[in-house]
Amino acid sequence: MFEENITPLPLDIFRLLRDFIKDYCGLFFNDKSLFILERRLNRRLKLHSLKDFREYYHFLMYDAKRDDEIHAIIDILTVNETYFFRGLTQLTAFIDEIMPMIKEEKKTKKINIWSAGCATGEEPYTLVMLILEKGGFEDWDIKILGSDISQRALQVARSGTYRKNSFRTTDNYFIGQYFQKEQSDRYIISDRVRKLVDFSSVNLLNPFKIRLISKMDVIFCRNVLIYFDDESRKKVIENFFDILVDGGCLILGHTESLVSIPTAYSLKHLKNDMVYQKPVKPHPKSLEEVLNMKFADHGISIKKRLDNDNATK
Ligand SMILES: C[S@@+](CC[C@H](N)C(=O)[O-])C[C@H]1O[C@@H](n2cnc3c(N)ncnc32)[C@H](O)[C@@H]1O
Repeated sequence: MFEENITPLPLDIFRLLRDFIKDYCGLFFNDKSLFILERRLNRRLKLHSLKDFREYYHFLMYDAKRDDEIHAIIDILTVNETYFFRGLTQLTAFIDEIMPMIKEEKKTKKINIWSAGCATGEEPYTLVMLILEKGGFEDWDIKILGSDISQRALQVARSGTYRKNSFRTTDNYFIGQYFQKEQSDRYIISDRVRKLVDFSSVNLLNPFKIRLISKMDVIFCRNVLIYFDDESRKKVIENFFDILVDGGCLILGHTESLVSIPTAYSLKHLKNDMVYQKPVKPHPKSLEEVLNMKFADHGISIKKRLDNDNATK
């Protein structure tokens, strides 16, 4: 057997590369992961006929094709693992508690849901299947956004074509109802599910792109932030806060808590789960309400006190 000829990645260049990747998209590689970048990026050196990683770093920073190269390394470094009906407790909380709550409180019949870091699309399609199965939303305008930073993953999501691996926890009932069999091992999502989902390329660390997204009632961002450092996690969580409606819910993966990150979210306790919620702002008080507020020390209303003051003038 021949050992593959690997160009070594020196520690100083590893740290430059790793910091660039962290600042760009939040993915964090500690020093022990040097060999991961070394292995995965070696092919890129050969592809561009570069001598070593110093030249590769220069290429990534300054070459006219650097944007394409960044997309390529994002596709190589991101973990796009996902499947339909992943995290059933959270999905049950979403469909049995969060959706009915939104339905009751909404003044318009519009709901926006975002699956942020949706990889190959199984999560947003699962949400649609749950909503269609639940029923009661037929005359509602429900929009689901699925986004990811990986172009390769989004390509699969848009194609809506899946193999067995994506169905590892899917009941056969859903496969029969919402998919057509394409070839022996491939299934394609039905149009009534697909038409409710829009896919878009969004880097969760890019606040400018996120500000262009409509206000969201629910954001799912599961199994994405585990790969980030605390600083990037905080930035993403703040970006989400800005575009959630008051009272909107953020659902993170079960291993991703915000304990180490100070945030303005409150915790909403559900039957079998907890989600983060953007607090509802108290309604501004009317002039009448303000005038009828009592002075804590005198027990009389502001209005009465003003009347008394005017009478003694
Ligand atoms: C493990 S998948 C999670 C998929 C799905 N949410 C789930 O729970 O099954 C993580 C996804 O996050 C995406 N991701 C990583 N960093 C990102 C970033 N800065 N912006 C947007 N997506 C990102 C990756 O491309 C990957 O597809």
